[in-house]
Amino acid sequence: MEIVIVQHKDEAAKIAADIVESYVREGKTLGLATGSTPLGTYQELIRRHREQDLSFRDCQAFLLDEYVGLPRSHEQTYYQTIRREFTSHIDIDDAQVHSPDGTAEHPGEAARAYDRSIGDAGGVDIQILGIGSDGHIGFNEPTSSLQSRTRIKTLHPDTVRDNARFFDDDESKVPHHVMTQGIGTIGEARHLLLLAFGENKAEAIAAMVEGPVSAMCPASALQMHEHVTVIVDTAAASGLKHTQYYNYALENKPTWQAF
Ligand code: GLP
Repeated sequence: MEIVIVQHKDEAAKIAADIVESYVREGKTLGLATGSTPLGTYQELIRRHREQDLSFRDCQAFLLDEYVGLPRSHEQTYYQTIRREFTSHIDIDDAQVHSPDGTAEHPGEAARAYDRSIGDAGGVDIQILGIGSDGHIGFNEPTSSLQSRTRIKTLHPDTVRDNARFFDDDESKVPHHVMTQGIGTIGEARHLLLLAFGENKAEAIAAMVEGPVSAMCPASALQMHEHVTVIVDTAAASGLKHTQYYNYALENKPTWQAF
């Protein structure tokens, strides 16, 4: 894992956008995440699209997860969210922005079909990830199999509470079931780019980076991946004990820029 610690999340957004841009310019397949964490990166990519001719026309995108039971027209579906926050502001073909079908009559079959569709597209080249305060990625809550595939999961009450802010602060409006790429599915993306900001994420980041590989911290599975970049602000990094191993490795540049 390459760990980059920055002072402010704006700096993280620029570094993350640099990484994603290099894939976009080659028309690669993007793995997108929702949540507040990647928003700065999306805004920076939108700016580069508008001001620097960054074109997404040759890209396709796969979302990590979706609530089960919300109609696609609901503004809090991830289908709508990613369009509102990102893809409707760039020139990607909307038909190439894929997400799990949380309305499917046979969710198990729809989940397997989604997993297959990622493989049929040649896999994800760059996967953007946030992290839940309990260490979840996508919606893979603690105890998720580290080899899991896209499937239905039940949210932990803490995650329901965390996400109530998007549902008028009313936990009863938050769906309790979701369809999420599995940890095994996510792990097949060729480059994982995980962002985390704020003290609320410090414990999860410490467990992910320095803890044992364990289903109790699903993000710790990233330790087994060959190409992971983690960009955190100082607050999210505050639980790390071994920072001498991390950060700007050569000439004050992250190694992917130095080489
Ligand atoms: C949700 C999403 C995750 C996201 C997490 C953190 O659970 N399914 O993909 O990483 O929230 O959200 P935020 O970035 O808003 O802290």
